[in-house]
Amino acid sequence: MKPLIIANWKMNPATLAKAKKLFSAVKKGAGNSKNVKVVICPPFPYIAPLSGIANAQPKSKIIFGAQDCFWQAKGAFTGEVSTAMLKSIKVKYVIIGHSERRHLLNETNEIINKKLLATIGAKLIPILCVGETEYEKKSGKTKHVLKKQIDAGLKDVSKQNSKLILAYEPVWAIGTGKHPTSEYVRSISILLNRELKNIFGKQTNKIPIIYGGSVNSKNGLTYIEKAKMQGLLVGNASLKAKEFIKIVKNV
Ligand code: PGA
Repeated sequence: MKPLIIANWKMNPATLAKAKKLFSAVKKGAGNSKNVKVVICPPFPYIAPLSGIANAQPKSKIIFGAQDCFWQAKGAFTGEVSTAMLKSIKVKYVIIGHSERRHLLNETNEIINKKLLATIGAKLIPILCVGETEYEKKSGKTKHVLKKQIDAGLKDVSKQNSKLILAYEPVWAIGTGKHPTSEYVRSISILLNRELKNIFGKQTNKIPIIYGGSVNSKNGLTYIEKAKMQGLLVGNASLKAKEFIKIVKNV
């Protein structure tokens, strides 16, 4: 399995013109990487225009992801975006349950589960984000929190042929510049794997676990080499083309 390097642009950059500039630079430097799969998750309004650039000559191998979706197929849900809409603009991956949505927008494990089931139902690949807060870590609740996020998030997911990615993102490491040691991430990934095995049995081997939280060109590779993660979810550093390309090239 090729490592996945996923860029989460969050609510950036401020204009389509800036997004096109950033994307063009990433396409030039990392658009045809052979050893890794590069996925870019821009804000919704930028996805279709950028996929036009991705497919313009010379074509790139960059794959598009969305940062969220709604679970209903269509109807009176003001402001929401469906999986069918995403599919129609060639999106392949969807980030589900990012900690910013859990904590700033009160997304519960139940909501996250509905989104995840809708995503899998539409044959999109969900990137389920899980992670403990600093308080939960300090009070020894990490294992309990992660288990709950996984069990509730993956409730009713078919054990057969469900494609998904699990992203371990400790909340205390997101956007803070603080990042865990590779030993810590390794120990968590063993725990996550065990939990996945309880749910999926042998199928677990097909579920990549990736790491996110203050990833940059200096620490990215260690999470793959030492912590045995199968990819990276990159926030801040994905907004600087040179830095993101470096992360991709290092892997
Ligand atoms: P960060 O964000 O790299 O800026 O810490 C990661 C994420 O939120 O996915």
